[in-house]
Amino acid sequence: MKCVVCRESAVIDVRRANSNFCSDHFLRFCQEQMSRAIREFDMLSPTDRVLVAVSGGKDSLAVWDLLQRSGYEADGLYVGLGIDGYSDTSGVYARAFAESRGLKLIEIDLPTDYGYDIPTGARAARRAPCSACGTSKRHLFDKAALEGSYDVLVTGHNLDDEAAVLFGNVLRWQTEYLARQMPVLQARVGFPKKVKPLIRLSERDTAAYCILQSIDYMVEECPMSAGNKHLGYKEALNSIELASPGTKSDFYSGFLRKASALFRAEYLEKSAAGRDSPSVEDLTYCERCSAPSTASLCAFCRLVDKAGGSARVGEGRIASGLEDNAAQSVRITTRAERLASSTTREVEAGQ
Ligand code: AMP
Ligand code: FES
Ligand code: ZN
Ligand code: ZN
Repeated sequence: MKCVVCRESAVIDVRRANSNFCSDHFLRFCQEQMSRAIREFDMLSPTDRVLVAVSGGKDSLAVWDLLQRSGYEADGLYVGLGIDGYSDTSGVYARAFAESRGLKLIEIDLPTDYGYDIPTGARAARRAPCSACGTSKRHLFDKAALEGSYDVLVTGHNLDDEAAVLFGNVLRWQTEYLARQMPVLQARVGFPKKVKPLIRLSERDTAAYCILQSIDYMVEECPMSAGNKHLGYKEALNSIELASPGTKSDFYSGFLRKASALFRAEYLEKSAAGRDSPSVEDLTYCERCSAPSTASLCAFCRLVDKAGGSARVGEGRIASGLEDNAAQSVRITTRAERLASSTTREVEAGQ
């Protein structure tokens, strides 16, 4: 097996690209795929201050490494979820990576800072762990990015993640979610800009990237995600991909190129005609933490209450982000634009 670029012996085959690569050229391939996604979707500019949400897994460590090597100023954010035998170890990998490169890692710990962990919080709120976890992470990602005045929040979602979410949305024709399934969500009042630079790389690519760059990462999956329907969608897509390499990326990139705008147009039209909910009038701000919310308390604060926790860190500091953004609020006039920024919707869209 020879590298398609230099004809030296190859260490990996990328079947969807019908290519084999040596170590150097595979690492360059990963860098190019990320740069291409960043350019194509206008994800980042060179002077942006970037916050990377880092779980200690292969994807988020790979994206942090790639961004840093590309010259971006990128700090990390790790959220300790209090999941026994998982969270402690994943934190070790995130910290070790940051220390080895002299990078800044912001840490938030749910049990220490908010008085609850995901397993007990989910039980108390009668919710699936992944759902309680998603609400917590999204809130804390937004809060940290706004408080730190970062321009963009980056996550390590990869091609497999996005194709699986798309597959689920298509299976049920969840057109609203399809309209919002984008690799870039623009900043809005109370929400930072969020981007996914790894949409052109598979899970196998990011694992190989980490191994070739000697990045130690948490291999074990979260024990609470067993039975999660997205894992089933990933397996289904993997067996299709095995028989027909390239199908997964054609499916996802074809959606972005050919279909996404159509769903978006239909969705904006429907929303403008008032056939959607919640309406812009329903959207206010959480009276405790000031995050955008459709109720007096936001989904996160309600979860903290149900879980018997309490916010020990300065909730309400998101309000400073809101003040900074107050001038923008006049631009957010349509119901559709408001809806596109709704956190609840993102949860349902599986982002
Ligand atoms: P997941 O939702 O577990 O598939 O993770 C998707 C992305 O969210 C990861 O690639 C990370 O960027 C981010 N992420 C997940 N868990 C954490 C965490 N505990 N702390 C910080 N970021 C996380
Ligand atoms: Fe959130 Fe597993 S990482 S429930
Ligand atoms: Zn080569
Ligand atoms: Zn709140």
